[in-house]
Amino acid sequence: MNNQNKDQNAEIISNNKSSDKKTSKNIVEIKNLKKSFDHGKITALNGLNLEIKEGEFVSIIGPSGSGKSTLLNMIGALDKADVGDITVSGIDLIRKKDLSDFRSQEIGFIFQLHNLIPNLSVLENVEVPMFESKISGKEMRKRALELLDYVELSDKIKRKPTELSGGERQRVAIARALANKPSIILADEPTGSLDSKTGQVILQRLKELHEKENVTLIMVTHDMNVASLADRTIEVLDGQVQN
Ligand SMILES: Nc1ncnc2c1ncn2[C@@H]1O[C@H](COP(=O)(O)OP(=O)(O)OP(=O)(O)O)[C@@H](O)[C@H]1O
Ligand SMILES: [Mg+2]
Repeated sequence: MNNQNKDQNAEIISNNKSSDKKTSKNIVEIKNLKKSFDHGKITALNGLNLEIKEGEFVSIIGPSGSGKSTLLNMIGALDKADVGDITVSGIDLIRKKDLSDFRSQEIGFIFQLHNLIPNLSVLENVEVPMFESKISGKEMRKRALELLDYVELSDKIKRKPTELSGGERQRVAIARALANKPSIILADEPTGSLDSKTGQVILQRLKELHEKENVTLIMVTHDMNVASLADRTIEVLDGQVQN
């Protein structure tokens, strides 16, 4: 892809027109967040504190079961905390009742296991998040096609997710996460199941978004080389951020 194309693509990706990097504004503020499962028997988050600045690229590392995915789910309002405070993009996620707009407009989620809808085509999977927005069906299709071109999958739009490789599925998941021009991308091990070359392509796309569009990128990874690409790496251990 040449540079001119890349710049055109950049415009379709995010609403963030400002090229100013890292303001001093926090986009994520978490205080003493606690979350348990199984009627309190399993503690996933144990008084976690975290601040992330707008436009920052943060990687999250930590052992299996330490609470990383639970933390991302809290930031993306996919689950509610038991105790504590969490504000994301100025929205109080504990007290605000209806978070569906927040979820669909502010957040792009790339899940650990892709979570593509198996009986829909690649193109339809990318369109799904736009159903909740106000754009027309025609615009929706145009945007989905542009995004699939951006992740270099234009030739596979009619396939079902089961007919794709792991790396291709992950690229569909990225296109889907970008559908509504989110200000924050939450990526849970986006390169976890991929060979290093495919992983590099995906990372390059994510880093590009962060650098050109000032999108805040919060990425869980087990790979220290991947983590080192971020502005900052935080470690989660037993449901807390290690200092
Ligand atoms: N829905 C759930 N029900 C019960 N326990 C859960 C649930 N989700 C997570 N847990 C538990 O909470 C703890 C934290 O899980 P979490 O998925 O956040 O870990 P993780 O750091 O993402 O691990 P991994 O690196 O393996 O993905 C674990 O002990 C896990 O078993
Ligand atoms: Mg996890």
